[in-house]
Amino acid sequence: MPFYWRLGKLPPKRHMAFERPDGNLYIEQLMGREGFSGLASLLYHYHNPTASFKVTPEGEERLEPWIEEVHRHHHLDTSKLEPGGHPIRDRVWLMFNEDVAIGVAAPTESFAENEFYRNGSADEVWFVHSGEGVVKTIMGDLPFRPGDYIIIPQHITWQMVLEGEGPHRFMILESQGQVLPPKRYRNQFGQLLEHAPYSERDFHPPTELNPVLDGKGEYKVVVKVGPKLTGYWFEFHPFDVVGWDGYYFPYTFNITDFEPRVGRYHMPPPTHQHFEGRGYVYCSFCPRPWDFGEKAVPVPYNHANVDSDEVLYYWKGSFMSRPHIREFSFTLHPRGIPHGPVPGIAEKSLSFDWAKGTDEYAPMIDTFRPLKLTVQAKQFDNPDYATHWAGYERERNGG
Ligand SMILES: [Fe+2]
Repeated sequence: MPFYWRLGKLPPKRHMAFERPDGNLYIEQLMGREGFSGLASLLYHYHNPTASFKVTPEGEERLEPWIEEVHRHHHLDTSKLEPGGHPIRDRVWLMFNEDVAIGVAAPTESFAENEFYRNGSADEVWFVHSGEGVVKTIMGDLPFRPGDYIIIPQHITWQMVLEGEGPHRFMILESQGQVLPPKRYRNQFGQLLEHAPYSERDFHPPTELNPVLDGKGEYKVVVKVGPKLTGYWFEFHPFDVVGWDGYYFPYTFNITDFEPRVGRYHMPPPTHQHFEGRGYVYCSFCPRPWDFGEKAVPVPYNHANVDSDEVLYYWKGSFMSRPHIREFSFTLHPRGIPHGPVPGIAEKSLSFDWAKGTDEYAPMIDTFRPLKLTVQAKQFDNPDYATHWAGYERERNGG
């Protein structure tokens, strides 16, 4: 994140001797992007983070494409996902390209106490559909609640603890590039501008550090690089960081803190952009009054994103332009074919109460390279979706 944060104990200068109570030194780890030129944080460990005593194979998270005979729109109803299992091992990937993978998880198990995960080649964004808990990280804890985006940048070691009754449901993005606020929301120093739909106060990094210094045992960090998972084993607890500072850290952002914009006439999706990454944009559609101009049509117009694929995930509220879509649904509208609201809704929308507005919440990911569905996506697919517009159009024209 482009702002500075610090937690715990730090020496007055970087790269100077910083003594532990026993006279040995705390160990520095600089965690930074783009060589030494990008966002970075400097961490002070009690133990050497290089000192693993065993390396074990832990399998692969390889994605298999679902090969279809036709190119079409999709509606995936993931309400059918059976709850169960582990947040990482049992997550289900639905679609992917060279830049992103998008999936869901409905875990019922927390991580084991001595088990951790680190994505060594991608950022991860976990959108919390339901359930509460804590993502414990090497840089401090992130409590989470429904509506949170949990942003865990590449290389940060973490584990998830589920709390409360559940069900715990997540929509997950794995991003090969860095997840950041769009450049147009920031000034030359990185500070968020007044016109941005949020401010630094809406980003919630860890607020305290409780390093585990007396943990002696066997701790496994599963590191994912590409599809490969490798276990790195340590005799000390990996959360041994006594202090850190910098611009590189995990955080949460609740979607209800995103400030939506409305115009007299319909505003396009980039108005709702939340994050940017390599090869995609990430938007948050949030409750807002309807467009209020004379004869304004508040529902979206048909559109053909000629060189991008559009993924919408439906969290909460009524989705005005697609009455058959429910929460837990994904729609995938790829390039090559136009899409839009169901025929007939534009006419109906003229009598919507503009002040009441829409109560929808829907994260959206538009990718610039084509997405492939996985074989796991097939179980959630509604094959009638590609032709559902036709029935509404017949009705609109008198049957
Ligand atoms: Fe669209």
